[in-house]
Amino acid sequence: MSEWYKKMAFYQIWIRSFYDGNGDGIGDLYGVYEKLPYIKSLGVDGIWFSPIYPSPNADFGYDISDYMNIHPDYGDLNQFKKVLAAAHEMGLKVIMDLVVNHTSDEHKWFIESRKSRNNPYSDYYIWRDAKHGKLPNNWDSLFEGKAWEYVPERDQYYLHLFAVKQPDLNMDNPKVREEVKKIMRFWLDMGVDGFREDVINFISKAEGLPNGNPFIPMANGMKYYKDGPHIHEYLSEFRKVAKEYDCFLLGEGPMTTTRSALSYMSGAGKTLDLMFNFEHMMADCFMTEYMYRPFKLTKLKKAFSKWQYELEGRAWNTLYLENHDHPRIISRYGDDTRFHRESGTMLAACYLFQQGTPFIYQGQEIGMTNIRLDSIDKYVDVSSKTNFHRFHTKDTLEKRMERIYRSSRDSARTPVQWDRTENAGFTKGKPWFYVNPNYRRINVKAQENDEYSILNFYRKCLAYRKKSKVALWGSYKEYFRFDNYIYMYERCFKGKKLLVICSFADHDVAWRLPKRLSGYKGKLVLCNYPAHSLRMLQPYEARVYELRLK
Ligand code: GLC
Ligand code: CA
Repeated sequence: MSEWYKKMAFYQIWIRSFYDGNGDGIGDLYGVYEKLPYIKSLGVDGIWFSPIYPSPNADFGYDISDYMNIHPDYGDLNQFKKVLAAAHEMGLKVIMDLVVNHTSDEHKWFIESRKSRNNPYSDYYIWRDAKHGKLPNNWDSLFEGKAWEYVPERDQYYLHLFAVKQPDLNMDNPKVREEVKKIMRFWLDMGVDGFREDVINFISKAEGLPNGNPFIPMANGMKYYKDGPHIHEYLSEFRKVAKEYDCFLLGEGPMTTTRSALSYMSGAGKTLDLMFNFEHMMADCFMTEYMYRPFKLTKLKKAFSKWQYELEGRAWNTLYLENHDHPRIISRYGDDTRFHRESGTMLAACYLFQQGTPFIYQGQEIGMTNIRLDSIDKYVDVSSKTNFHRFHTKDTLEKRMERIYRSSRDSARTPVQWDRTENAGFTKGKPWFYVNPNYRRINVKAQENDEYSILNFYRKCLAYRKKSKVALWGSYKEYFRFDNYIYMYERCFKGKKLLVICSFADHDVAWRLPKRLSGYKGKLVLCNYPAHSLRMLQPYEARVYELRLK
């Protein structure tokens, strides 16, 4: 399989909030078509579509009711083909989301499966009898209560690791795996270039579904469904299909470790080209954003460096700071009030120059920030609602809402802010969700005309990366790893070096060259401030130097 994906950068579209092309308040493929030149102008080489299939939206697209169609809100197959052809014409690859750990409970397989214990679809899902009058095991769902839901018609429970409306498929059933391959072929035959495989390390469950540790909330069963017994076997079946096409596979790996990730991405039995890991998303929380902890730069650097060092020469990293599952990065690791532009640009530099394939999430390139809605009832994300109603219920309302502001996935899902006109130019109709009130200040149009904007900084970084062999292929080395303000790393390729220096401080900090580099002189090739001083970094300053021996 060719390795074109290593040189690429991707733009992720969560279509519902991207751009509304037909005025009904919902982003769609007409809007994507119109904005393709914009996407191309960023300097990316491909698009990842979060699910655009028919879905009741219990989990906004990740509960799929038909894998081989387009949600009518977003257009139809013809419109998709039009977008695909236009994207290809511009040299943009397109990858789709493949969500096969579960379907929607409104998928025809499940509608049939739930009817009886004896029908062509009865083993498509994970059904169990009650155990001693209780649930089949003690697993929690990651999104909504217990992981089991009772269905009277079968007098049985089905497993749902996510929302109640997301029943888990029974991947042990060969027929289900055949269905997955059919879905892959359907899109690959149409010309898509690969898949992002949703929670792919969860699809094989341990034999007997044993009880988990009762003291771990939410993730108590994870030991028995993460990296399950047949996972490599099942993924290699999917891999075989992918190999018939020049396509690539990227797996989402919640809670994955470098060791486990390497078991998918390297060796003879390699089943995935790339994986998304979550470790660097936990520099201000424990496991999930809802469990907030103050941001620690050393924690972030440790995660970054661990993945850079441990994958070097063995597998290829994905680089990201945002997606539809995480709140906005400036509101987390930067400063969204006093140093919006500065921290937004610095965060871009801190990850885009690492080794790997970068992903940029819609709105990230203009530094969109978290939204604060005044009531939990205005939030629509199932996991935010569960967290609010289930945990910390004795805290003050104010404290509980603060947790939601910090953690809600809805902050990543507000409409993209295109300009300062009504509804941020996202729609001519009534937007399906709240527009962040800061759109008059933060929007694409305003940043287009500003040389120092976040938007133009992303463009500069991506353009540089594209033409630099060092940025693309160089090995990685971190300096001053215990420093609480500065993240500094070097990339090195065939004797040529780049040095990336990022300040995470909201005040000036002194910096110095590492001793090992004292024989080098630097040429500044990128900086997020128009003027700078030799020894001091300004708040959230980022610099990239090309180094040459003196
Ligand atoms: C993945 C998706 C997320 C979804 C979950 C269940 O983590 O990125 O949006 O809710 O899987 O499908
Ligand atoms: Ca629309």
